[in-house]
Amino acid sequence: MAKRKSINKKMRNTRRGKVRAKKASSVPKEELKRELKISAIDEGTVIDHIPTDATFKVAEILDLENHKGIVSIATNLQSKRIGKKGIVKVGGKSLTQDEVNKIAIVAPEATVNIIKNYDVKEKIKVKTPEIIDNVVKCSNPICITNNEQVPTKFYIARKDPLKIKCHYCERIMGKEDIEIV
Ligand code: CTP
Ligand code: ZN
Repeated sequence: MAKRKSINKKMRNTRRGKVRAKKASSVPKEELKRELKISAIDEGTVIDHIPTDATFKVAEILDLENHKGIVSIATNLQSKRIGKKGIVKVGGKSLTQDEVNKIAIVAPEATVNIIKNYDVKEKIKVKTPEIIDNVVKCSNPICITNNEQVPTKFYIARKDPLKIKCHYCERIMGKEDIEIV
């Protein structure tokens, strides 16, 4: 009992405590239970609201297999906004614009949170670019981009569900065909 009391006191007095305190009051109990399984990070980036089927693609885009800091990946979490979602938390990393653009293609609803000293310093809603330069592989084996040193280029043919069109061979690809370069 005494031990629990001292933890509670510590939680109230730290920034981390504030984040959790806010969660406790604003999140349904069921979601809170799931959320608490993934600890808050002190510095780094949290990519939230990822469609579940894109969670591991985000990890691949960020090359997290080789990241030396803390990496937490969770998927199939309940989300009010998108049904089920994934979250990727990366300690000690800030994203480049290129990485954010890549994430926008596999996770158009994602939010990128920049964390400093346990606080969300900035919340960026990703935006699917109109032109996708050198991010996605063309699925057409005879496309010039698969046979010569030509960087790929796609246009958004349809927003929802996402369809993209190759600039060179005009192949239309859906979400399921998207492979990151
Ligand atoms: N987060 C974290 N570490 C911190 C602060 C926040 O891992 N030190 C995570 C939270 O768990 C959450 C995300 O970063 O997944 C965004 O935090 P916050 O803006 O506090 O959450 P929400 O208000 O739920 O975000 P949104 O409005 O984008 O749904
Ligand atoms: Zn092509």
